[in-house]
Amino acid sequence: MDVSSLFDAPKNPAYFDSAASSLTAKQVRAKMEEFYSNYRANIHRGAHKYTKQASEEYEAVYGKLAKFFHSKESEFVQVRNTTEAINGVALGLEWKAGDEVVVSSIEHHSNLLPWLRLKEKGVKVKILRADEEGKLSAEKLKSVLTPNTRLVALTACSNVLGAKEPIEQLVKTAKENHSLILLDAAQYVGHHPLDLSKLPADYVAFSGHKIFGPTGIGALYHREGAPLTPWFVGGGTIREASLEGYTLLENRERFEAGTPAVAEWIGLGAALDVINKIGYNEIESHEKKLVAAMLEVFAAQPKALLYGPKAADQKACALFAFNMGKVAHHEVAVMLDRFGFACRSGHHCAMPIAKRLGVEGSVRASLHVYNDEEQVRKFGEALGKISALA
Ligand SMILES: Cc1ncc(COP(=O)(O)O)c(C=O)c1O
Repeated sequence: MDVSSLFDAPKNPAYFDSAASSLTAKQVRAKMEEFYSNYRANIHRGAHKYTKQASEEYEAVYGKLAKFFHSKESEFVQVRNTTEAINGVALGLEWKAGDEVVVSSIEHHSNLLPWLRLKEKGVKVKILRADEEGKLSAEKLKSVLTPNTRLVALTACSNVLGAKEPIEQLVKTAKENHSLILLDAAQYVGHHPLDLSKLPADYVAFSGHKIFGPTGIGALYHREGAPLTPWFVGGGTIREASLEGYTLLENRERFEAGTPAVAEWIGLGAALDVINKIGYNEIESHEKKLVAAMLEVFAAQPKALLYGPKAADQKACALFAFNMGKVAHHEVAVMLDRFGFACRSGHHCAMPIAKRLGVEGSVRASLHVYNDEEQVRKFGEALGKISALA
């Protein structure tokens, strides 16, 4: 299929920053515009035509999520983004001194800080160290688990190193220890399918803006039976309220306090439609070509120091963090912008990785279905020009 027709991908500079935020598909924007033009109303309020239609479209997204992840509608909570979802789990569980949480050494700050904050409650945070290329190991995980490990919180794909992780084994290992397991799937859902009927993760967090959807919306999956109490309460969450107290609704509505992000949620549903339309097979095979081409580009640049796996079959997605000789990462990004490539530079909200690599930061080129091999070839030429200065 002609994937490029689904996006308005910018040409100059070409968009090489999808790990920060993907492009939003045209269909997603059209669906949100449809809401604003045709049935702009609050949901679950009153009986008029517009609120009814908005409510139907809104509710339908839970069904789409359930189908997409092979799970149940009641297992999803609307959140603003991955960060809110992970904080929600940290705030929504009861902790006692002596509980242990395991996180890895390659987490985004959003899957690190919410757990480090629990130290204030006497929770011990243990670190599962990744190898040099950012690969996690179930064997190593086993060695840090104890009977007190309440929860294991791991990335399904690092936003700096992009290594393919043994997700099934990691989840299995945590479950065998009777620990809860949370997956930060922010960098995963846009690239690979997650079948939660087969993968027994307790919590999964992801953001709409990284999967062709709008900004300001995401979802938290929480498996039926996994503990979780609402971190916000208010309008929309209660069965009954008086001046003395309240009782919360039983179902997922107890998590969604206040008027939700209606347009964005409907947009998130449209983003799932877009992934279905393209198909994960197509996304994976296209990215495989991009990964191979990018690795060739880096192999041809002796001054480029590439972080993460160098073998194509070890990469989970087309995401490459690197430095160019002595040139500062921000300067490389400015030059790349001038040569026609929008790349991110900095610590990528994962300072522990930068510290481990002994650098302040790096440049990151991250590609997706709307990028092509011709762009990669030109990117190689641009690196060649920068290399002359490095
Ligand atoms: C691996 C990972 N986790 C979490 C996040 C946070 O996502 P958000 O900013 O959408 O909350 C990101 C964003 O870059 C990420 O790459």
